[in-house]
Amino acid sequence: MTLPVPLVDGVTLRLLRPDDGPALAAAYARNREHLAPWEPVRPDAFWTAARQTAQVGVALSEHAAGRGCPLVLDDDGAIVGRLNVSDVVGGAFLNGHLGYWVDAARTGRGLMSAAVRAAVDLARDDLGLHRLQAATLPHNAASQRVLDRAGFTRIGVASRYLRIAGEWQDHVLFQRILDDPPTSTG
Ligand SMILES: CC(C)(COP(=O)(O)OP(=O)(O)OC[C@H]1O[C@@H](n2cnc3c(N)ncnc32)[C@H](O)[C@@H]1OP(=O)(O)O)[C@@H](O)C(=O)NCCC(=O)NCCS
Repeated sequence: MTLPVPLVDGVTLRLLRPDDGPALAAAYARNREHLAPWEPVRPDAFWTAARQTAQVGVALSEHAAGRGCPLVLDDDGAIVGRLNVSDVVGGAFLNGHLGYWVDAARTGRGLMSAAVRAAVDLARDDLGLHRLQAATLPHNAASQRVLDRAGFTRIGVASRYLRIAGEWQDHVLFQRILDDPPTSTG
C-alpha cells in the first residue's frame, strides 16, 4: 500500500514524521477532554511538544525495528487523529494491536472507519501480519461500530484489562484475521 492514503474530506493517513512533535502536542491539547475517558491518565509532561517529539522518536524506532506502525490523520499539516499498530510479534503469532482516535471536531464523518480499513490492508500487505487485535471499553459504541464495519469480530471480554482514566477497566476484545474477507460491510 502506498502511503499517504486518502480518507475523507481531504484528510490523509500517513506515517508519523520526526518533526510531528509540536503538531501532536497541539492535537492532544485540543482533545484533552475528548480523550480522557478512553485513555490512561497522562503525566503533565505528556502534553508538551518536547515529550511528544521524544515519543515520536521512540515510535519511529519501533517502526524501524518492525515492531509497530505509527500513523497520523493529516489535514493540510494539522494532525486530526492517530492510528497505531503496536506490539507487533512475529513467529507463529504475526499479530499487532490496533489503537486510534479522531479529533473531537471530526468525529462521525467516517474518518476512522476509512482509516481502520486502510490499516487492515497495510497490516496484511505491508507488515505481513496474520491478525490484528483491538480492545474497547464496553460502552465505547462508536469504536465498536468502527471495528464492526472493518470486519473485526468480538472474541470476548477481558476483565480489568487496561488502566483507563485511572481505573483498571474491563475491555471487549476484537480480532480481524487479515486473510478473511470482512464479515460486515456496514
Ligand atoms: C471511536 C472514534 C475513533 C470513532 O471515530 P469516527 O471517525 O467518529 O468514526 P466513524 O465516523 O468512522 O464511525 C463512527 C460510527 O459510530 C457511530 N456512533 C458514534 N457514537 C455512537 C454512539 N454513542 N452509539 C452508537 N453508535 C455511535 C456513528 O454513528 C458511526 O456509525 P455509522 O457510520 O454507522 O453511523 C472516535 O469517536 C474517537 O476518537 N473517540 C475517542 C477515542 C476512542 O474512543 N478511541 C478508541 C479507543 S478503543
